[in-house]
Amino acid sequence: MKPTSTEVAQPTSWSNLLDAFSQEGALLPSDWAPLFGPLRAGGRDAMMVVGQLGQTLDGRIATITGHSKYINGPSGLTHLHRLRAVVDAVVVGVGTAVADDPRLNVRLVSGKHPARVVIDPHARLKPDSLVWSDDGTRRIMIVADQAKTITPPGVEVLSIPATNGHLAPADILRALFACGFKRILIEGGADTVSRFMLAGCLDRLHVIVAPIIMGSGRAGFSLPAIEHMDQAVRIKMHAHALEDEMLFDCDLSAQRVKLV
Ligand SMILES: NC(=O)c1ccc[n+]([C@@H]2O[C@H](COP(=O)([O-])OP(=O)(O)OC[C@H]3O[C@@H](n4cnc5c(N)ncnc54)[C@H](OP(=O)(O)O)[C@@H]3O)[C@@H](O)[C@H]2O)c1
Repeated sequence: MKPTSTEVAQPTSWSNLLDAFSQEGALLPSDWAPLFGPLRAGGRDAMMVVGQLGQTLDGRIATITGHSKYINGPSGLTHLHRLRAVVDAVVVGVGTAVADDPRLNVRLVSGKHPARVVIDPHARLKPDSLVWSDDGTRRIMIVADQAKTITPPGVEVLSIPATNGHLAPADILRALFACGFKRILIEGGADTVSRFMLAGCLDRLHVIVAPIIMGSGRAGFSLPAIEHMDQAVRIKMHAHALEDEMLFDCDLSAQRVKLV
């Protein structure tokens, strides 16, 4: 029912969105639908892959030492936890797992913890890293086919063929699909998100910009150099204000390759 002229429409709660999101065919509340609707299904095939980066106004995701906790404030971090709550699996590169020792679970909002996946071609992450702690959630280490692994108890290992040290993001996603995961969050860092983007393996990219200017530090993306601006990809995107931060929801579906 539409509010009358004297009533003000109240925002729908996160738990309403989560309930609707998990029921196939259910309509999402209209205030959540623009941002979360595209995350239900990518459209290209049975997988949906969203990347995220939290960055400063000048495009940095960490200081020169790799410190990044936290670039985003409460609103950006809440959005990140919401992303975790709507996906089946969250993926980080080993650089992030080493630098941040993240837990990758859902703590700031209600919702299920996603499976935790680390791309660690040479199996160099310490077995006592928080990401491997046993809380009943599936944990997966992605290694290069020849890597020698000492696997922490309960951690599954997926072996992917490497070409010059690079694991094709499409192969990684297909292996995750075979494990039963359809909706995937590529949470960072810059190297990992850039590899997925370059390979046409992202449906969406959420860039959450915090009102910080660092003036030094690590860049959010690392892509092959271009000489002219017309070689740069201009992306279809929608901006959403998250209190004092800005979320850029980039639609990469046009360049997304078929995975399954
Ligand atoms: N602000 C944010 O949103 C955010 C989010 C996450 C992380 N961070 C920050 O970002 C920094 C880490 O980012 P990063 O770019 O250095 O590292 P990263 O992306 O976390 O990890 C990169 C490493 O993962 C492995 N890897 C990932 N994808 C691969 C593929 N397709 N094929 C082969 N290897 C692959 C490689 O490991 P090997 O080196 O073993 O070959 C690569 O060097 C940290 O400072 C962290 O704090 C910020």
